[in-house]
Amino acid sequence: MKNLKVVILAAGKSKRMKSRISKVMHPLVGKPVIEHVITTAKELGRTPLVVISPSQKDLKDELKKKSVPYVYQRKAIGTANAVQQTKPRLSHKSGHLLILCGDVPLIRKETLDNFVKKTILENITCSVLSMELPNPAGYGRIVRDLDNLFVKIVEDKDTDDEAKKIAEVNTGIICAEKKWLFETLKKIKPNNHQKEYYLTDIVSLAIAEGKKTTAIKAPDPDEFIGINTRADLALASNIMRDRINSMHMANGVTIINPAQTYIDINVQIGADTVIWPGVFLLGKTSIGNCCTIENGAVLKNTKLSSNVWIKSYSIIEESEIDTSAAVGPFARMRPGSKIGKGAKVGNFVEIKKSSLGDGAKANHLSYLGDALIGSKVNIGCGTITCNYDGLNKYKTIIGDGSFIGSDTQFVAPVRIGKGSTIGAGSTITKDVPNNALALSRAPQVIVKNWGKRSKKRKKS
Ligand code: UD1
Ligand code: CA
Repeated sequence: MKNLKVVILAAGKSKRMKSRISKVMHPLVGKPVIEHVITTAKELGRTPLVVISPSQKDLKDELKKKSVPYVYQRKAIGTANAVQQTKPRLSHKSGHLLILCGDVPLIRKETLDNFVKKTILENITCSVLSMELPNPAGYGRIVRDLDNLFVKIVEDKDTDDEAKKIAEVNTGIICAEKKWLFETLKKIKPNNHQKEYYLTDIVSLAIAEGKKTTAIKAPDPDEFIGINTRADLALASNIMRDRINSMHMANGVTIINPAQTYIDINVQIGADTVIWPGVFLLGKTSIGNCCTIENGAVLKNTKLSSNVWIKSYSIIEESEIDTSAAVGPFARMRPGSKIGKGAKVGNFVEIKKSSLGDGAKANHLSYLGDALIGSKVNIGCGTITCNYDGLNKYKTIIGDGSFIGSDTQFVAPVRIGKGSTIGAGSTITKDVPNNALALSRAPQVIVKNWGKRSKKRKKS
């Protein structure tokens, strides 16, 4: 395997996807389709070379970001032509070339490893990884002769009634002796329905030259779903989700209904955590032990320590929640929020770029933005930090142990000392010292017999 090189084909227009973005850039359980293939290539110990079209700017940017090398195929005139573009970068040394498709993301490292090892050990010039499908429509068919020997691949669009029935198909993955391959690619002609240079024609050329050529059947066809349409993407997502959920369950996580639980590939979850249906755990979310995530919760790039309770329909993004805290139901935590140990955030509370100290509570109907809230602070219902004056954002700082009466507005910048009390209904515009009471509401007025007087007025 020492001289093995890996190429990923990803050029073309993605016509069947009907999308403005490249088909291999569509997200699949939290990362672009092609990144699954790149990761698998890297697991084989290889940095792949990717073939792309000059028009695929989204893909180019992603590859640059990940430092993965690429070459252009100026016109997407077929997979054989795509492989040819890699020749200047790869042909100088002997060895085999493994060709993967950027749109076949579910392949496992072990499967590729076995395929490549067999090809190299048995001195096979050209081997194709095949699979058997109950419905082979859309795939290139593996044609064998009466002695069951591999003869050629017929692309779906070129099949006759007889070939259409063949259940064994090309997964799109080919491993071939590199020097021979680059020489032979030149001989491929676009004599087919799509007028394209098919890589798959390499098989009949190899056989004609008497080279050792095989189709090696892989046991699990789920690994080779090609993402050509939105339906393929949904199918592949389901299979990936199954794999991810099974892995977490094996690690001690309870998932009440795996069919309705959506966990991205890079999410980490500790044992004894319970996940209710309808939950989305996205990006690089990490969850500690013994947490409960109730139905409808969406967590993105969020970190939960242990024993955290996320109640139904809470939306949490780029935030951190410490041990034994509880959030929701119906809470919204926007990026940059931190909730301390044992703190509570209740229903209809929005928190942005703010921290809530250990044991603090904001149980109902509040907006807390750009606020630094100390430990054991009680935020009364309807509290609002007025953090924005139309031009700039300002901070509200509330000291440990303060009690904030309901319906308080803090006009930031403002600082409240430790152990202070704010009377309900106050609009706080000035700093409050430690242990003080601040009140800003108008004194109550009582007008006696107002009811009778207003009735008389109406009659007259
Ligand atoms: C291809 C195979 C087919 C196989 C199927 C498995 C060929 C001719 N056919 O068909 O036998 O059953 O995959 O999924 O190889 N690409 C380029 N440049 C091009 C054309 C395609 O880089 O000019 C890339 C695409 O981005 C894609 C891959 O090659 O990642 C396969 O091309 P696609 O058009 O999807 O081929 P299929 O019809 O799926
Ligand atoms: Ca395809």
